Amino acid sequence: MNKFYEDIVRGLSSRSKYLESKYFYDAVGDKLFQDIMECPEYYPTRCEMEIFSQQTGALSSLLRSHYNDFELVELGAGDATKSIHLLRRLLAENATFTYYPIDISSNVINYLETKLPLQLPGLKVKGLNGEYFEMLERQKRDSSRPKIVLFLGSNIGNIPADGVDGFCKELRSHLNTGDLALIGFDLKKDPRTILAAYNDKGGITKRFNLNLLRRINDELGADFDLEKFEHYPVYDPGTGACKSYLVSLAEQRVCVGDTECFDFKEGEPIHTEISQKYTVEQTNDIAANCGFKPISHLYDSRHWFLDAVWECV
Ligand code: AVI
Repeated sequence: MNKFYEDIVRGLSSRSKYLESKYFYDAVGDKLFQDIMECPEYYPTRCEMEIFSQQTGALSSLLRSHYNDFELVELGAGDATKSIHLLRRLLAENATFTYYPIDISSNVINYLETKLPLQLPGLKVKGLNGEYFEMLERQKRDSSRPKIVLFLGSNIGNIPADGVDGFCKELRSHLNTGDLALIGFDLKKDPRTILAAYNDKGGITKRFNLNLLRRINDELGADFDLEKFEHYPVYDPGTGACKSYLVSLAEQRVCVGDTECFDFKEGEPIHTEISQKYTVEQTNDIAANCGFKPISHLYDSRHWFLDAVWECV
């Protein structure tokens, strides 16, 4: 049976039911996430876009003060709307580099390989379609020049806080001393602002979460009744964890395929996603624990979002 099926069955068999948020992103989920980024309440994208569009010169000087010849790797590149500002600037300043976007979606990679060289003549793009760390290994076979790795969009927040050191250590193990990582962290702020970003009035985040049940129905032959689950996000300002749940509105049984059935009590939650928020100090601790040294911090004007530049030590 396929990995998707195994992961879904594992999550729903667990005492505290969960579904992995990476499965949000089918074609419909990709579109819903694009819509979320346009929501008035969802601030992270606009904050990081402000950094990339308004501090491009400072960022490019900082990177070029380390290397003029390097490889620029982006984990989870998506449509590269933020990084394109940096790419344009680096080209204008005659930096020598190849852009290696890594993404799990082959559509994304095809799109970037076709579109970016048209938008940015002279840009060398080599897309890598697959898991982050496997693709970093493949990139290594292609070039031994120093690397600058971008991991934007607070994607790091979708890793639970107790797993973030493990992730960053693994990232470090694929890099060399002197390589750089630029990581986007969503910072702790007014809890109401954070909760609203995951509970937009237009109900798009709700549809984004429920779409996962629809996907399981369509692809794995399940019989989730989407009317019988409610999207319920919570934010804990103490831990910085913003968690989303789908809560069962009734006692019900859901079957996935012919053999696996799961009983839900009324009020029972399925945990679908974590979006962890950090303080700057916490991000510095992660860097120190994992073999990096923070060398620069770029913020949006409200200090809601941090793009941290770390050097591998
Ligand atoms: C992709 N990721 C960083 C988003 C986030 O903020 O955690 C996904 C998302 N989930 C709900 N809204 C946005």
